Amino acid sequence: MSARLLTSVIAGRAVPGVEERPNINPSDVSDVLAETSAADAAMAQWAIDAAREALPVWSQTTPWERSVVLDRAGSEVMARADELGDLLAREEGKTLPEARGEVIRAGQILKYFAGAVLQPHGLALDSVRPGIEITVTREPVGVVSVITPWNFPIAIPAWKIAPALAFGNTVVFKPAELVPASAWELVDILNRAGLPPGALNLVLGRGSVVGPVLTTGVDAITFTGSVSTGRGILQATVDSGAKVQLELGGKNPLVVTDDADLSVAVECAMQGGFGSTGQRCTASSILVATAGIHDAFIEAMQARMSAWTVGDARSAGVDMGPVVDPSQLAQDEDYLAVAREQGAQVVGGHRVESAAAGHFLAPALAIGTAITDRINVEEVFGPVMSVVRVDSYDEALAAANASTMNLSAGICTTDLAEAAHFRRHSKAGMVMVNLPTAGVDFHVPFGGRGESSHGPREQGTAAVEFFTTSKTSYTHPGQP
Ligand code: UN1
Repeated sequence: MSARLLTSVIAGRAVPGVEERPNINPSDVSDVLAETSAADAAMAQWAIDAAREALPVWSQTTPWERSVVLDRAGSEVMARADELGDLLAREEGKTLPEARGEVIRAGQILKYFAGAVLQPHGLALDSVRPGIEITVTREPVGVVSVITPWNFPIAIPAWKIAPALAFGNTVVFKPAELVPASAWELVDILNRAGLPPGALNLVLGRGSVVGPVLTTGVDAITFTGSVSTGRGILQATVDSGAKVQLELGGKNPLVVTDDADLSVAVECAMQGGFGSTGQRCTASSILVATAGIHDAFIEAMQARMSAWTVGDARSAGVDMGPVVDPSQLAQDEDYLAVAREQGAQVVGGHRVESAAAGHFLAPALAIGTAITDRINVEEVFGPVMSVVRVDSYDEALAAANASTMNLSAGICTTDLAEAAHFRRHSKAGMVMVNLPTAGVDFHVPFGGRGESSHGPREQGTAAVEFFTTSKTSYTHPGQP
């Protein structure tokens, strides 16, 4: 049977591209889900033009009309959670429960923004000068490029596209090359839910080919991905002055103090570090343990890790699916080699054999590392954690704040004063107490500090900042 052909969607029409690329299941590389017909630069420009043409139509719909479309799309996404979850697990490699959970999250996000668009977003107030009234209103920014990573193939697109459309913008959406099928389904669902042609366009293509076009000639760009690509986007917008929102890397510490509940700490580390195969910008990557609990914590972690099942993302009873592709697998192994060279003892991290050929790596723990070691400075983006032993809570806080990519930071402790101090003094944009550093809600702001984020926060009530521009109007009655 020949694989399904996925194409770009421009102005509501399927548009074949210029070269075909296979969409490979990371749990079984003999399973080709689809062929992607990749777009060239001219098609990316065509998509921008289509979005520009649809802007007067979509931006002038009422909030209710936009709400209805998003709500309908949210209902379909949720109703198809099993099927779309299976597709996502097959395409990206997170386990079925994780994939299904992500699909449900995407549905919730669509429904959240269906509601959010009906909320008041403006201000009405009197001028400081007599007789003058002021209103502050929110208007769409215009055409928005949405550029997303492979690790959350449906949730991240949803949390960028839903607010963009809710507030009346039109969209050109470029998903990561590894996950075109989930992206295609989301676009199809939204278009069938009642979007006018061109309000949401899908460009399937290589970043190096279509990226430069998508970062010029639009009014705003929202991007989640690597620090280096994000920096490049920012530079590309210097001349156009487009609005930019970047969600980049994370180097997230989980502090475990002497006062921690050991089983809570182990669960937080396992879920935060190895959930979604550790391929999350919010993944716990540095475990900072104080001296009194360090050895017991390491021992309990090793016991849990050896009972962790790695295998086909869609098989029952699997705790962790494969790494997404061979280059990511090589990167994970390189970091483990570097950690060993710098004196760490690495537990796990070996290739796991399975019936089908997939990119399976056992969860890895690099023990006995220093906070300045390379493995504790750069983002690994795989099922790899390292451990730093410290003497006190103060030293733990300093280690937790050592990174420049301050997205999420966690602490496991039963000491209320310690928890409160950590919440206040962590440099991260998100702080978790007795919870994994990964796994966030959709109705509150998401984002980091330092090199991790740029521009207004994503999600929840914060999304209106990026996806609208405000207008301040002064009105005098025209008579004395
Ligand atoms: C989560 O931890 O629930 O790319 C979300 C990422 C993040 C999303 C993490 N932007 O991993």
